[in-house]
Amino acid sequence: MDARLSVIDERLAGIKRIVAVSGCKGGIGKSSVACSLALLLSKANYRVGLLDLDFFSPADHIMLGVRNVFPKEEKGLVPAEVAGIRFMSIVYFIEDRPAALRGIDVSNAIIELLAITQWHNLDFLIIDMPPGIADATLDVIRLMKRIEFLIVATGSKLALDSVTKLIKMLKALNIPILGIIENMRIGKSNAVQESAKTLGINFLGTIEFDYDFEDCIGNVDALMKSKFVKQLSAIVAKHKGLLR
Ligand SMILES: Nc1ncnc2c1ncn2[C@@H]1O[C@H](COP(=O)(O)OP(=O)(O)OP(=O)(O)O)[C@@H](O)[C@H]1O
Ligand SMILES: [Mg+2]
Repeated sequence: MDARLSVIDERLAGIKRIVAVSGCKGGIGKSSVACSLALLLSKANYRVGLLDLDFFSPADHIMLGVRNVFPKEEKGLVPAEVAGIRFMSIVYFIEDRPAALRGIDVSNAIIELLAITQWHNLDFLIIDMPPGIADATLDVIRLMKRIEFLIVATGSKLALDSVTKLIKMLKALNIPILGIIENMRIGKSNAVQESAKTLGINFLGTIEFDYDFEDCIGNVDALMKSKFVKQLSAIVAKHKGLLR
């Protein structure tokens, strides 16, 4: 029996909602949505934590322009505060070095992070999930009993095929799914909306491809003014009941 497992529930006890942003396929905007959602909820005066669980390509510190901040030791690790968000990531420990981890080591690192992090009281913990439905997805489901999923997808047939598998798995496990956000829309296809209907989950709205988004990365003020965040903000406002 791993003694750390018994601590995790205690560490998460002060968190009202745990929302994993996932989408299975790589590069579809999971990190962009996770960071932007955390910023929007924080701006709306919620107490927000952001956990980057992508050990291979952590991105949230780049997105938020995190520099020279570190968690504080206090009966565990208290996440650094970045733009009003309590932020935890593997980058505090590995910096720019690659994390070449096998499956069992990924699980171990997730257990360790969850067992040592002192989030204290939060309204939302947003988790930026890595691509795929392997270790990290199965572990958060196993370790965080109250987890809910927010799905990101693009209209690409390849992305939709992957995300369909994720949704079917979550449904089979009875994990709550808040809904699906279509990202990077460029054409007129309603493929994501139709997939949501077929799969029986909420279609929350669309974020179009934002040609200026890249220039906003690393600057929270610029991100907040971006077309990307404005569209996400409209989606959050339209579905207020889902996130409060
Ligand atoms: N709506 C959009 N318009 C333009 N660029 C976008 C949009 N959404 C995301 N991007 C860009 O696409 C790239 C991939 O986005 P992001 O890192 O958020 O995806 P991801 O799904 O988290 O990727 P990974 O699977 O590697 O974790 C980033 O450079 C991001 O800035
Ligand atoms: Mg990512």
